[in-house]
Amino acid sequence: MHPDGKKILLTEEAIRLRVREMGEEISSDCAGREILCVGILKGAMIFLADLVRHIRAPAFFDFIAVSSYGVSTSSSGAVRILKDLDQSIQGRHVLIVEDIVDSGLTLNYLVENLKSRAPASLKICTLLDKPSRRKAPVEVHYNGFVIPDEFVVGYGLDFNECYRNLPYIMVLDPSVYRKVE
Ligand code: PRP
Repeated sequence: MHPDGKKILLTEEAIRLRVREMGEEISSDCAGREILCVGILKGAMIFLADLVRHIRAPAFFDFIAVSSYGVSTSSSGAVRILKDLDQSIQGRHVLIVEDIVDSGLTLNYLVENLKSRAPASLKICTLLDKPSRRKAPVEVHYNGFVIPDEFVVGYGLDFNECYRNLPYIMVLDPSVYRKVE
């Protein structure tokens, strides 16, 4: 394990198996339809790349970048669009792909924003869910793992832009973020 980790929460193997199951579930729900997968940059990029390889329906990608976190382990509450989608989603079956739902502020904002663009359907798929931290309601359709209220990094998730490339998800040792905050 990386020396900044307190413990491994989800091994590479556990993630691989669950992501495959999620892809299969999405495939059976979406049979016969084209899906537009909207990845929320940057955290969701690794999950999205693995997930779409288990989706057996025509899948298209687009990306949106939003930010609600600065150099901190908790949400400031303000959501900003840093990079918008490249294409219209009107009439498309959209699957939002997210790495983690924490306070829910990011997705609560994004769902309202994307709904106003008139997609045919809009569903949310997240790898991780921390329901104990919720401040805004979010209806999650596909959830990989419910996790406790600990700061996790790896498999796309960062702290201060570090650790995204770890193949597993670990709990960050609090001494690491206490130095920065
Ligand atoms: C993280 C994460 C989610 C969001 C979840 O993104 O990737 O998008 O926060 O938090 P919330 O439910 O409290 O809104 P972040 O803003 O850190 O950007 P990143 O994906 O580039 O790491």
